[in-house]
Amino acid sequence: MSLAAEFGITLTQHVLRKQTGHRDARGQFSQLLTQIGVAGKLITAQVRRAGLIELWGATGDVNVQGETVQKLDRIANDTFIEVLKRSGCVAAMASEEEDEVIEVPPQMAGDYVVAFDPLDGSSNIDVNVSIGTIFAVYRRHDRNEVVKSDILRPGREQVAAGYIIYGPSTALVYTDGKTVDCFTLDPSCGEYFLTRENIQMPEKTVQLSINECNEPYWAAWVTPYLDALKSRNDAEKRRVSARHIGSLVADFHRNLLKGGVYLYPTDAKTGRGKLRVLYECNPLAFIAEVAGGAATDGVHRILDIEPQGLHDRTGLVIGTKAEIARVAEFVAKYGTGRA
Ligand code: AHG
Ligand code: MN
Ligand code: MN
Repeated sequence: MSLAAEFGITLTQHVLRKQTGHRDARGQFSQLLTQIGVAGKLITAQVRRAGLIELWGATGDVNVQGETVQKLDRIANDTFIEVLKRSGCVAAMASEEEDEVIEVPPQMAGDYVVAFDPLDGSSNIDVNVSIGTIFAVYRRHDRNEVVKSDILRPGREQVAAGYIIYGPSTALVYTDGKTVDCFTLDPSCGEYFLTRENIQMPEKTVQLSINECNEPYWAAWVTPYLDALKSRNDAEKRRVSARHIGSLVADFHRNLLKGGVYLYPTDAKTGRGKLRVLYECNPLAFIAEVAGGAATDGVHRILDIEPQGLHDRTGLVIGTKAEIARVAEFVAKYGTGRA
């Protein structure tokens, strides 16, 4: 075997290979994915040093979501914005940490718009638990200026979506709508190599991820559904096991690879969900569907939600297709009202 053949496929090589015949005449899609990878490396460097250079803790600010901003939230946000701005591929961005749309000056603007959660799992930063960046990519409409409908659109219009996990290793997972592929960052050479190709979520649900302490706020369908799920276990065999990290991105990644269901149901009293449609639910729902899974807010397919505002939230149930179909049965039987 030649030396070159011994190396794995890099992220850039993979994107270029897959773009043949795609509507990307200016090569911006491959450039965008490569630059998202660069942002991921820069954020990785900060995450890895966080404990050493006192990047743990809060900035003292509260973001548009009403949440405490952690120092790494801010760093990840600023890094992602700056790298994408300079990429020449992006016309506008929306970030979980920014009140308004971030417009790129026309001379630097490209064909895409990106919505992102710069750091998901903020509560896990200070305790050395996996966190990540989640992103959704859309093609901008063919107009001169960026308009709200470039950003406020249903998730089914995504052309790509992905996440970068800062865990024991840094992994970048993305879909172009055809396959879901995973790359692992080799810290010794600073390159991402293809480590899992065409990921399909296993059909069997073996893991359950939910914050059970939210039970008082659940709708009527949730507890009977969970009881039924747990009753698959008996004295002879454990078939389903609880795994909840509290970083959606890491909970999702594990369920994607092992087969599972993640729930953050809508609060039945307020009718509000916690997770954000644009930055968290849409990209993960797109990945789930391409990998053979599904995602719902309890009633509607996540990718069909028409967002009204940048920071809209929703209930989320995401997992294997069979599990989401079962959820629909429980919703039909018990309803979405208060338990
Ligand atoms: P973020 O850190 O981007 O604000 O998102 C946190 C999200 C998600 O990652 C996690 O699963 C969920 O919030 C946890 O919320 P609870 O603490 O309410 O369980
Ligand atoms: Mn998040
Ligand atoms: Mn976040």
